[in-house]
Amino acid sequence: MGTKQMEVNTLSGTFGADVRGLDLANLDEAGFDSVYQLIVDHQVVVFRDQQFDADSFSTFAEHFGAIHAHPFMQGLETHPGILEIVKTETDRAAFGNAWHSDQMFVAQPAKFTMLYAKEVPARGGDTLFANMYASYDALSDRLKAVLGSLRGWNVGSREKLRAKGTKEPGTRPPSNMQEQRPPEDMQTEASHPLVRTHFDSGRKSLYFGGHTMHIEGMTQAESAPILQYLHTHTTRPEFQCRVRWEVDSLTIWDNRCVQHYAVNDYEGQRRRMHRITIAGDEVPV
Ligand code: OGA
Ligand code: MN
Repeated sequence: MGTKQMEVNTLSGTFGADVRGLDLANLDEAGFDSVYQLIVDHQVVVFRDQQFDADSFSTFAEHFGAIHAHPFMQGLETHPGILEIVKTETDRAAFGNAWHSDQMFVAQPAKFTMLYAKEVPARGGDTLFANMYASYDALSDRLKAVLGSLRGWNVGSREKLRAKGTKEPGTRPPSNMQEQRPPEDMQTEASHPLVRTHFDSGRKSLYFGGHTMHIEGMTQAESAPILQYLHTHTTRPEFQCRVRWEVDSLTIWDNRCVQHYAVNDYEGQRRRMHRITIAGDEVPV
């Protein structure tokens, strides 16, 4: 797969890889398998110095599954599967500025998210990730067993999340995008197990995030402290890694076993990303 000068560096003690010297636009079939395995092994992989246009980015992404159309956000006119996420010099809010896993509010949530940096601030605008295998592994056996019997209820609606007092995750579209009402028949709420088993690795991870409203079968008052504990636990620095962006970096993460968080610390600077989401092909179990 053109591994001649490929260099892989780890991003933290438990997960994340930073890859240089690999040209993703010119992979052969074995190369795609290796990239898939890199993502499964490291959960978050940054590929530096990638040369994609919208066509080649879409073609690359399609090797990993169907491209997901976002219910709330509009893609590029020429490439509806690509969301352009912009924060301008005058925008205050940053898209994705709360811990979450993408599209938890549908029955088959997003598998991979691919974020390709077109313009980056001189400093700031990193993305944080949390390793949901590591935070699961660190729990006591008793709590693992309790959580293993519970399911979370996950919603996409910004209004509902706000009403609950949750910091909104990724659902506020960036200012360059018109907010679209999801089609009536599109699902925006879903139940998922709080502990899921990864389809490829066979490992268990916690599975919840900013879209999780409450625990099924419990009142809000009962579930809130449990979710608050899980939030505090899963976002401990020991379970995190951090991606420092460069122009032409492509980061791919596995939403099945990580949460992520866009750091909003670059006021007055501009950041522009192209995002493709790979639709989930499994119901979490
Ligand atoms: C996303 C997201 C994080 C970022 O695109 O789903 O959360 O750093 N983005 O832009
Ligand atoms: Mn996101």
